[in-house]
Amino acid sequence: MQVVIDSVGHRFPTGPWLFRGLTARLDPGQVYALVGPSGSGKSTLLSLIAGWVAPAEGAIERLGSGRTSWVFQNPHGAPRRTVLDHVVLPLLAAGARRREAEADAAPPTRWRWRR
Ligand SMILES: Nc1ncnc2c1ncn2[C@@H]1O[C@H](COP(=O)(O)OP(=O)(O)OP(=O)(O)O)[C@@H](O)[C@H]1O
Ligand SMILES: [Mg+2]
Repeated sequence: MQVVIDSVGHRFPTGPWLFRGLTARLDPGQVYALVGPSGSGKSTLLSLIAGWVAPAEGAIERLGSGRTSWVFQNPHGAPRRTVLDHVVLPLLAAGARRREAEADAAPPTRWRWRR
């Protein structure tokens, strides 16, 4: 996926501008690091790039992929829950029955889930 960021700025309704005039192109196959002080808007920019939040100004184009995934900075699980529990949770939340959700969540190899 290529991401084209054109003159993007963002502020939340009650807050100051976090950034303005951001223009960049992120190319497929490359790794980028976004650094800055806490509260400077890094997670906000990732939300914009993912398309979950619309920028207050400017435009962001995502070319070549219908889906953006993101591992959050604090990817903690729920205590005493298995990996399978974590994987099926969004399927259950979307209305699937547990048996179907566990079948969908099964890995494509001969791995076995352990409870
Ligand atoms: N949904 C929101 N509504 C209002 N303000 C928000 C919202 N999300 C973030 N903010 C504010 O925007 C600013 C930037 O937050 P953001 O989480 O993007 O910073 P960050 O650079 O990712 O910080 P950290 O390094 O701590 O993760 C902060 O002042 C935060 O309180
Ligand atoms: Mg953050």
